[in-house]
Amino acid sequence: MALTGIALAVILAAGRSPQSDNSLNAAGDGNSMGAAVPGSAFLALLPDGEMKRRFIIDCTGCHVWTADLVRGPGGEVRDAGAWSASVAKMIRMFGQGTGFPIISSWPDPELLGPWLERHLSVEPTAPVIAPELLPVHAPELVEYEIPVPTDLPHDLMVDREGRVLITGMYTHRMYRLDPAEGSFATISIPVPNANPRALDIDSQGRWLVLLGAPGSVARHDPATGEWESWQFGAYPHSLDIGADGRVWWNGHFTVDPEVIGSLDPATGVVTRYVVPRASDADVPPGESTIPYGLRIAPDGRVWATQLRGGRLIRLDPKTGEIRQWRLPSRHAGPRRPDVAPDGMVWIPEYAAGKLARFDPISETFAEWDVPIAESLPYVVRVDRSNGRVWIGTGHADVVVSFDPTRETFTVYPLATQGALIRHIDIDEQRGEVWSAYGASPGVPSKVARLRP
Ligand code: HEC
Repeated sequence: MALTGIALAVILAAGRSPQSDNSLNAAGDGNSMGAAVPGSAFLALLPDGEMKRRFIIDCTGCHVWTADLVRGPGGEVRDAGAWSASVAKMIRMFGQGTGFPIISSWPDPELLGPWLERHLSVEPTAPVIAPELLPVHAPELVEYEIPVPTDLPHDLMVDREGRVLITGMYTHRMYRLDPAEGSFATISIPVPNANPRALDIDSQGRWLVLLGAPGSVARHDPATGEWESWQFGAYPHSLDIGADGRVWWNGHFTVDPEVIGSLDPATGVVTRYVVPRASDADVPPGESTIPYGLRIAPDGRVWATQLRGGRLIRLDPKTGEIRQWRLPSRHAGPRRPDVAPDGMVWIPEYAAGKLARFDPISETFAEWDVPIAESLPYVVRVDRSNGRVWIGTGHADVVVSFDPTRETFTVYPLATQGALIRHIDIDEQRGEVWSAYGASPGVPSKVARLRP
């Protein structure tokens, strides 16, 4: 059977020199996760329902729920009091009214504490990946450790020369990886506390780097070494460049008004579009829907998601018209979508554990369960050469692909435990899928190349 002995050639680039050990990955026999219990196994202990989905949206975006987090420092089981204290601390750090208000007003330490104690005090079982889900041919996986292991490689893009540009969100700089050498160049951004998160490359090979805390975008021309930047006046989350060169972005925490914006770098003009608050929003008044992913379709229309609002949004740049659709699953947690060459919009339903497809002609959704329970599908990218949909997961230490014609999934295990994949880029020319992952605190950050 194709599966026994599936060997992922794992080359772990420690520091600067990639070493090949050609070892089997942690899966060992190829059809179980081996000793490594991914975060998905702990989340699977929590009972399904609205509470779990809301918990996933509020509490899994920064750190993976592996044993290191779920158990205390000495490996002991946390009790309700300890859980409540951690929830209260997280709310103080990242709740409403803080500088990074990603946690909603929903988590109640007194409710979550006993709930977490009740369900997480038992040992989880590592999920077994069904043999038919594993790839038929042995893929090659190469992982590269980021020079500063505590940095957060948020987004990555392969440039024309096949080098990989990576945003170093915590060290405020860019990395450029030469995959053949396994070496990283470091490029500083001339903006204090630049906080680079999202990234795109324009038609002239210039980098557009979205700067979170400064509320701006910076453009770098690698040919001249020059940087320029433009202010948005809001913490931006995602960006994409239109065929006309306009840069589109969304305001991560904007609320009343919630903003999607564009920038024309030729004139410096920033235009803001207001996304009306849906009457059935899953978010109390005054609180952000958490504007999230944003992608431009082949016809130039802008598609975006709301992580907490649970909606898909379409903006027509020609008319400024905005339309919205509710994702089919409640508290779906749509994160980073993509638009296929045929115009279909593919959306990872992070908290619902599904892959959704929206047909803009019939205005209907289809949904598929992503095979590993609580894998937390985070980001989707469509391979433009063959229509295959790639999914980076937040909690299962796997990359997943979906064949829209056969409606089948394939699961590619990573060698790292606690890999919270926030971004992927597909290099169609070289047939490679690149992922960036790291988790705060504690998991050394990496980027990985998969040759499926
Ligand atoms: C914006 C990122 C972020 C979010 C969202 C987040 N955490 Fe944390 N979490 C952290 C960081 C950073 C630490 C380390 C804190 C420290 O060192 O004091 C941490 C630590 C923890 C710890 C370790 C024990 C402790 O108290 O330090 C637990 C448990 C935890 N978080 C649970 C949660 C829960 C429950 C939620 C949802 C209510 C949550 N986290 C949401 C970033 C986050």
